[in-house]
Amino acid sequence: MDDVRKSLSDGTSRHERSSIGQFLTSVAIARFMASLFERQKKNVSILDAGAGAGVLFAALVEALVLRRHRPLSIDVVAYENDRHILLELKETMERCDTACKEAGINFQGEIRTEDFVAAAIAQTEEGLFAVQGERFTHAILNPPYKKINGQTVTRRLLDAAGLEVSNLYAAFVWLTVRMLKPGGELVAITPRSFCNGPYFRRFRFALLDMMSLRRIHVFESRKKAFRDDDVLQENVIYHAVRGEQKPKHVTVSSSEGADLEKVSSRSVPYRDVVLPGDRDVFIHLVKNNDDDRVMDRMRSFSTSLDKLGLDVSTGRVVDFRARAHLRRLPEEGTVPLVYPCHFQNGFVGWPVASGKKPNAILSSEQTRELMVAAGYYVLTKRFSAKEERRRVVAAIYDPHRIEAPLVGFENHLNYFHARGQGLSANLAKGLALYLNSSLFDRYFRLFSGHTQVNATDLKKMCYPSREQLMRLGAHVEDQMPDHETIDMILKKECENDGQEIGCKES
Ligand SMILES: C[S@@+](CC[C@H](N)C(=O)[O-])C[C@H]1O[C@@H](n2cnc3c(N)ncnc32)[C@H](O)[C@@H]1O
Repeated sequence: MDDVRKSLSDGTSRHERSSIGQFLTSVAIARFMASLFERQKKNVSILDAGAGAGVLFAALVEALVLRRHRPLSIDVVAYENDRHILLELKETMERCDTACKEAGINFQGEIRTEDFVAAAIAQTEEGLFAVQGERFTHAILNPPYKKINGQTVTRRLLDAAGLEVSNLYAAFVWLTVRMLKPGGELVAITPRSFCNGPYFRRFRFALLDMMSLRRIHVFESRKKAFRDDDVLQENVIYHAVRGEQKPKHVTVSSSEGADLEKVSSRSVPYRDVVLPGDRDVFIHLVKNNDDDRVMDRMRSFSTSLDKLGLDVSTGRVVDFRARAHLRRLPEEGTVPLVYPCHFQNGFVGWPVASGKKPNAILSSEQTRELMVAAGYYVLTKRFSAKEERRRVVAAIYDPHRIEAPLVGFENHLNYFHARGQGLSANLAKGLALYLNSSLFDRYFRLFSGHTQVNATDLKKMCYPSREQLMRLGAHVEDQMPDHETIDMILKKECENDGQEIGCKES
């Protein structure tokens, strides 16, 4: 199998492969994935959607052949629409055939060169006259990762089938799940991005509804899962069984890289992976005892933003769209424009004359709706590098430091407001302190694998009560305390032992 991978890497250039979402799985990961299937079946039917050179189904066939109780028959259906890879795929299929014959197992392999999305939709169509297509006992996949653009045939097909997904990988997994028999098993490797956020909500919901999630494996290091390729996503592998009751526990494991030499693994209550009552069904990855402690400590906070009378929005000034109205320095008729570069010691320091970003925006009829009335606001950066110490970084906009009737927040920021207006000074300070705490940051990382901090994610978080926030705010004077002090303050003022984790809406 190593030969297969090597010959492939030589055949198609890295750039080409990336543009068609073709990141190939290493043999070590393929074998690890194959080892996650649990059930004994006499007659096995395997689906590999987006099979590439076939490393995944080959690893599964190998594992089944090596079992003490071998199946009587194995059928493989592999979908792959890149003709450059078909020769290798055919060779892999032939090797599986030989291995099975030698082991006395009936083998049938079929390569389908058509588009998997169209084929699978046709196979799983529901309705009065629909004929049920084939169903599988096993599915193993590493689907293509690609945004689905608005005007494509794929988009139209998916919309018509009611599959609301923004990335091809989610469409592949969703359709694969539909093609499993009851009790059929799925093992997939995909980006972690589906675990949270609004774009994958419908997919998460369908996945967790149709499947019983048994295992999630997290790669701690972003580059290591696909060492040879330029994949910057955090990947997860998951194992789930079609149509069974939700398990009481999910096995969550992690490894530093792709060699899987040191896998640490633990059993986590299902209710800590998907919180009861969470309408967005975020998937939390509680990997170790430290993460457990973070979950426990978060139980002290149960107030929703809504209950606090607050909301969080994304900054309205998209600078490249408003270019004609931007000014490098403040001048007559302008108001402050705030970017992440204005964050200084937990407050907005404005203007920054030495920076590359504009400091001001013209105030006119045209730009009025991009601005908010002066007041205390809490801002967070929307983007951070994974390697940065903090995912969540907050600063306070203090209207007494910056004299202006209006202010514009740029689109790289989220801002917390009280139904469009500013907050009280103490509330803003307390909220910024909470957002800058290690606890908030660590909890955020349990469900968010990407470096973006969306307003929707912040909306979902639980917060201290108004009284607690006010008490926290009293500790903030001219600048935000350092991280250690913030954590001490939070512990002293707010934390107590536990209720169920999750916020109360009212
Ligand atoms: C991420 S690669 C994984 C390949 C292989 N499963 C592996 O793990 O090495 C995804 C594969 O899906 C194929 N693919 C992309 N779109 C497809 C489609 N619409 N139908 C069938 N295959 C597709 C690509 O050519 C690519 O080989």
